[in-house]
Amino acid sequence: MNIAIPTASLFAPLTLPNGAVISNRIAKAAMEENMADSNQLPGEALRRLYASWADGGVGLILSGNVMIDPAALTGPGGVVLDERQPIEPFRAWARAAIKDGGQAWLQINHPGRQVFAAMGQQAVAPSAIGVDLGAYSHLFPVPRALDEAGIAAIVARFATTARLAEAAGFSGVQIHAAHGYLISQFLSPLTNRRTDAWGGELQNRARILLDVVKAVRAVVSPGFAVAVKLNSADFQKGGFAASDAVQVVRWLNELPVDLVELSGGSYESPAMQGSPQVGSGSTAAREAYFLDFARDLSAVARMPVMVTGGIRRRAVAEQALLPSEGRPGVAMVGIASAFAFEPDLPVRWKRNEALEIVIPSVGWRNKAYASLAKMALVKLQLRRLGKGQQPKPNASPLLALIRQQIITRRRTRLYRAWVARPRGIHG
Ligand SMILES: Cc1cc2nc3c(=O)[nH]c(=O)nc-3n(C[C@H](O)[C@H](O)[C@H](O)COP(=O)(O)O)c2cc1C
Repeated sequence: MNIAIPTASLFAPLTLPNGAVISNRIAKAAMEENMADSNQLPGEALRRLYASWADGGVGLILSGNVMIDPAALTGPGGVVLDERQPIEPFRAWARAAIKDGGQAWLQINHPGRQVFAAMGQQAVAPSAIGVDLGAYSHLFPVPRALDEAGIAAIVARFATTARLAEAAGFSGVQIHAAHGYLISQFLSPLTNRRTDAWGGELQNRARILLDVVKAVRAVVSPGFAVAVKLNSADFQKGGFAASDAVQVVRWLNELPVDLVELSGGSYESPAMQGSPQVGSGSTAAREAYFLDFARDLSAVARMPVMVTGGIRRRAVAEQALLPSEGRPGVAMVGIASAFAFEPDLPVRWKRNEALEIVIPSVGWRNKAYASLAKMALVKLQLRRLGKGQQPKPNASPLLALIRQQIITRRRTRLYRAWVARPRGIHG
């Protein structure tokens, strides 16, 4: 008997709720590059980096997080898009990132309390609760709790950045509501202790996310994609839980949202960097570590669901698209780190090349430094691609970390000078 085994095609197009088509199921997930120029604008290095991904055949490029507020950056060298920034550098960036019908979306973000004290930033958050990283907590300022006007201003900033993203030629935006940044801080009862309309029960904690989606939608065209990156959970006791994520997606179902990407964790519990205690223990679940939950969510979501985290191999990516145990497969797979080491990943998978992507592990005893070194190794590859060089997977983690620290110090000085300078209004 001939049993047809369903093969999930990574190369089948996906039609979004807004009617736009993504040419395949592979997305380059957001990676903060810290590669903006001295005016916090995208320049040649970012254009070259994004062109290398576009040339590699990826269906969707999600940018590293772009800042909606010049006074609140996730890190030095961050791209800022507000109405005081010139639009032309963003137009050039979009042109480099969009090729052959590909899509490129800007990930738009406000970090809330997850900003670095060294950058001289005054942190704001739902409540005045600082980041708790033990001996490293002093690296982050204690935030001021936002008032009503402050919340309204931030919602309006998300909308302005989205409007400008469309004007620049990007095909969508992704609202960052994960990884412990501002919207995620509102969602989590650990960081949101408010007793007004923005805190308390989940519906209040989710209000800012739903308001941002509505405000963004109100200023962009129907064909422009609006997506959300959401935590499956904070992976902290008493935090945002998987059942909360399901409920938030039910609310997002009622809005014109084109895609939900699932991730997890925060600076305090960096689940997005490695296997949290989720999944069934199968290889695919260990490698694509949010997949189990993404399937549950796909059963509830009306919009396509994308899963990101740990995917390196084609077989695992394909498995994520397939139904399993009565639950649907996901619509798209998001891949971050592997794209830094292999920008041509989609075309090489399509050619059926046996591709072994080795992302060096850093087995240092100090987990905080090991994690920083791993990030530094990835960012080293991004800078190399931005210079037109080949990735260098065997680079020394220690040297990459030292280099990253030097760059961070220099870029922090550049940021402090830039933010102190007056700027005109462009957009
Ligand atoms: C260098 C680096 C920078 C990142 N920056 C962002 C970011 O700006 N926004 C975001 O949502 N996730 C960011 N992430 C997380 C990735 O999008 C992704 O969720 C995570 O790395 C897991 O996927 P991977 O195993 O394919 O790398 C970053 C990851 C890395 C390695």
